[in-house]
Amino acid sequence: DDTKLGVQGLVDAGVEKIPKLFIRSPDELAEESDHPRAQVEFPVIDLNGLLTDRRRKIIDQVRSASEEWGFFQVVNHGIPPSVLSKMRQAVRKFNEQEIDVKKQFYSRDTARRVRFNSNYDLYQSQRADWRDTLSVSMLRSDHVDPKELPSICRDEAMEFIDQIGKIGETIFELLSEALGLKPDYLKSIECNKGRTLVCHYYPACPEPELAMGVTKHTDNTFLTILTEDQTGGLQVLHDNQWADVQPIAGSLVVNIGDLLQIISNDKFKSNVHRVLPSPEPRISVIGFFAGRVAPPARLYGPIKELLSEENPPKFREVLVSEYVGRFFTKGLHEKPSVNDYR
Ligand code: SIN
Ligand code: FE2
Repeated sequence: DDTKLGVQGLVDAGVEKIPKLFIRSPDELAEESDHPRAQVEFPVIDLNGLLTDRRRKIIDQVRSASEEWGFFQVVNHGIPPSVLSKMRQAVRKFNEQEIDVKKQFYSRDTARRVRFNSNYDLYQSQRADWRDTLSVSMLRSDHVDPKELPSICRDEAMEFIDQIGKIGETIFELLSEALGLKPDYLKSIECNKGRTLVCHYYPACPEPELAMGVTKHTDNTFLTILTEDQTGGLQVLHDNQWADVQPIAGSLVVNIGDLLQIISNDKFKSNVHRVLPSPEPRISVIGFFAGRVAPPARLYGPIKELLSEENPPKFREVLVSEYVGRFFTKGLHEKPSVNDYR
């Protein structure tokens, strides 16, 4: 089964022309003229002074970025830069090692906690993206047994999972306050549960302008937090233009997912984004927070405290397992969205 070799397997085999499966459709190629590249400043929020008078200002910045962009970068977030760079380096080693070792983790079975594959939606999509991915799903249980993880990135991943969980709680506090709720509100409804660690490796692409690293989509989570290397390629749709996220060493990129758009009753925006491939490999490591999935599962709908006569609920309630499941049955090209729940 060739798919077990991943996209890097093609690069290892020396391909100079990308296989047809990876070539963007005419519609997708037209995206570039439909949405020109934006020259805008992407929001960067300095978390320094979070426990001082600056907190109000930080919350205001979080609010406006979440409303206007659904995305922001944070600096001075408290995670040592070395934890992030060591994790990215470990992901590089995992992907650049002997194929036989990687293959042991190969799986498309979403019931498996640790799985390595290329394009989770390969069999649901018309074409494939230029990336390989190692995932560690903690949707049903927060507990990860280190022995389940590939030894080449085990310690780094355990540390990263721990740190991303903590910064996630901090950001959920800021988001709660930005919604005018008590700081622990989003945590009290377990938005910070149901985590998945996703490690993307975008192999060096011989024809980057023809392929896509990640097809445009919104995230099926409450919140997504990621570290990327200096390669760049992540773009966010803003005012109908593609805005580049400029990598800032040591920063984290944060974005609002569909479920947070739903429970905030459209106040916060789950925004469309994509990743362009490049001639150099790119690594990103992501913490997804999908909310409570483990039984007893929770129904999530617009937060009652935010509703009024002028602001009636715009969405029906949804189970996380159902919402996340749609992404797996449909794939990225089908673009499942919050609009299906209005
Ligand atoms: C994604 O949105 O799925 C990937 C983002 C990234 O790699 O930067
Ligand atoms: Fe995404």
